[in-house]
Amino acid sequence: MEDRKGDHIRLALNSQLKKDEIDSRFDYEPMLGSETEGQWNEFDFLGKRMKVPMWVSSMTGGAPEALHINQNLAKACKKFGMGMGLGSCRILLDNKRHLPDFNVREIIGDDLPLYANIGIAQLEKMMKKGEYDRLENLVSLLRADGIIIHVNPSQESLQEEGDFLHFRPIDTLKDFLSKTELKIIVKEVGQGMGPRSLKELMLLPIEAIETASFGGTNFARLELIRRSTENVSHLEPLTHVGHTAEAMIDIINGIVESNAEIKCKQLIISGGIRTHLDGYYLISKSKLPAVYGQASGFLRHASVSYLSLEKYIEEQILGLRFSKAWLYPKFDK
Ligand SMILES: Cc1cc2nc3c(=O)[nH]c(=O)nc-3n(C[C@H](O)[C@H](O)[C@H](O)COP(=O)(O)O)c2cc1C
Repeated sequence: MEDRKGDHIRLALNSQLKKDEIDSRFDYEPMLGSETEGQWNEFDFLGKRMKVPMWVSSMTGGAPEALHINQNLAKACKKFGMGMGLGSCRILLDNKRHLPDFNVREIIGDDLPLYANIGIAQLEKMMKKGEYDRLENLVSLLRADGIIIHVNPSQESLQEEGDFLHFRPIDTLKDFLSKTELKIIVKEVGQGMGPRSLKELMLLPIEAIETASFGGTNFARLELIRRSTENVSHLEPLTHVGHTAEAMIDIINGIVESNAEIKCKQLIISGGIRTHLDGYYLISKSKLPAVYGQASGFLRHASVSYLSLEKYIEEQILGLRFSKAWLYPKFDK
């Protein structure tokens, strides 16, 4: 007690915040909550049961560190009840040597969503050759619930060895959907998508859209950094194009309100989600059932150790409980 009182005197002067540092997205209502109201109950998402509204966005496989990172991520998903998207599984299509990097169903267990991942350019090539059953085999090999298709023309265009898209991704997807029973999620990789793409996508019978919005990891920029020995500065403006998660939620909410025909009814909100407050605000704002996803946030800890990752997630869950009990997001729903 004495120590604490001493800390208060010593630290009070270091704890000052300025008025403009307030998070004005929320009303804080200390009179109206309780710890009990902050509990998150299990809920159905993607046909499975999750315990917290958090998703591990697609990252890695095939790199030397990938086994350690993916196993840490899957172990954390199992412990906290989160879903997981695998990184691009393209490498597995030709060679099963890297299977252990992706083979995490045993760790995450059967009750939580786990999705494989492939790029639209690979899908386009497979559809052309009538080989889409290779993706069905991939999903059964990994005992995944379905597959995430990442649609990333901005990354491919700026990557020196990038793939060329001959067809519109929406047409490739429609073709695939007409032939397969696989569950499909569609995402970008950090630039997000605009209203026309979102509207077309939401009319398709896909399980979910992952926003993979602008404001966090930016793969267009990353590809330019990889080419740093060349003078690519004239391409730099392209890395600023995209849509933030909040702008995408506003667009999606508008589509939900005005269009009874939509078939895609779940969202993973990701891209630039830096804190649980960003996540809580956006999932609260979404008119569709939503969880929030992070890639780099988890990577930072999963690459260090499982304990570091566990601590990071525990802190997020604590923040989510506080938010649910005492914070009221300010927007018109
Ligand atoms: C190291 C790393 C690797 C990634 N690899 C993939 C991938 O293989 N497939 C994919 O769909 N997205 C991939 N992404 C993109 C993320 O899934 C996510 O859309 C994007 O990073 C934005 O999230 P963030 O701002 O939380 O990092 C990767 C991201 C990171 C950080």
